[in-house]
Amino acid sequence: MAIETQLDWNHLKAGRAAALRPSPFADLRPMMAADDLIFFGGGTPPPERVPVERLRHAAMDVWEDAREIFAYAEVDGYMPLRELISERMAARGVDAPADRIMITNGSQQGIDLVARALFDPGDRVIVEGPTYFGALQAFDPFEVEYLVAPVDEHGLIPEPLEDLLVTHERVKAIYTVSIYQNPTGATIAENRRREIIDIARAAGVAIIEDDPYGELTFEDEPPKPLAADDPNVIYLGTFSKTIMPALRIGWTVYPSALADVLIDAKEAVDIQSDRFVQRMIVGAASDGWLDQHIAESRKLYGAKAAVMTAALEREMPAGVRWRDPAGGFFLWLSLPNDLPSRALLPHAVAERVGFLPGYFFYPDRRESTAVRLGFTTLPDERIETGIGRLAEAIRRASKQS
Ligand SMILES: Cc1ncc(COP(=O)(O)O)c(C=O)c1O
Repeated sequence: MAIETQLDWNHLKAGRAAALRPSPFADLRPMMAADDLIFFGGGTPPPERVPVERLRHAAMDVWEDAREIFAYAEVDGYMPLRELISERMAARGVDAPADRIMITNGSQQGIDLVARALFDPGDRVIVEGPTYFGALQAFDPFEVEYLVAPVDEHGLIPEPLEDLLVTHERVKAIYTVSIYQNPTGATIAENRRREIIDIARAAGVAIIEDDPYGELTFEDEPPKPLAADDPNVIYLGTFSKTIMPALRIGWTVYPSALADVLIDAKEAVDIQSDRFVQRMIVGAASDGWLDQHIAESRKLYGAKAAVMTAALEREMPAGVRWRDPAGGFFLWLSLPNDLPSRALLPHAVAERVGFLPGYFFYPDRRESTAVRLGFTTLPDERIETGIGRLAEAIRRASKQS
């Protein structure tokens, strides 16, 4: 057996490695080890919602005539897929011609590529407080500093956002999960959208709009993205939540001025996204199937959200607060008496219930008195039992604090 040589890896490691954020999930190990755990941490469609047969047939069709696609090509993606996305974006009010759409390995790669295009060490990024921690993981290697702009039930709040821009130099971008936000479920209100765009424009900073959940509305129509009002908005989309995460197919709609840098960055990172999977999606989506599939998911997730909120009504002690979700995957539960989310963890382990604690979602991991609950992945009776367990964990933790 070869013996590992005694290289001084600490000396060899890049300075930037120190900026990488350890995965927050390490903190959840005791929770994840609990027997019969009911885990509300999931942010995926449930397995039974994955259209196995449809994808399998579409994949077989791609293999029928595959010689053409064995080689490297299509750095920015398969044109018919980009055209399909362009049409879908138009239905959401966004003018996104296919030549301003790049296919990425999930929207997570979109976040990385945009960061490559925009950020120098020491640049500042405004993120929502709380925000999606995966974006922080993607931004960290670029050695940026974070400024945290508060959100409320109507999404990003314009005034403090403007204050941050007025009082700080070197801000390059505002990163927002504008619709059914991960983690709070909040959507930027109609009357704030224009104001936020105007604030960003006046300050000369980019808006990076990450929108994995917008199509999964429980209302009549999905809310409009910010990108519908401003072609300068960099928009990130994905099939992870509407079809399945394992596809690893997302897209970036970008302003023309960023075409070269983004496409060059994509080529440098992984040359292209999977050509087979892109074709499989186009095949599967044909004849209105994708719209139908999303319509069914909206119904199912809306019903699951209702199961969760009904259980919360029944079970939660006084002082616990939440808002009924209007779409997406998540509900943000505020704990009573400013109970820190971290203090709830050991009681949750004892009660065999899991969630993501609020501090995961801040760049400085500041204490938060809320937790994120996902309602899409579990069967209804597990949601009900799990909320009962969570209520008990909160009662126990409240007694101790
Ligand atoms: C806000 C947000 N952005 C990006 C992602 C990553 O999605 P993808 O699977 O498309 O990379 C997620 C996944 O949870 C998310 O919630």
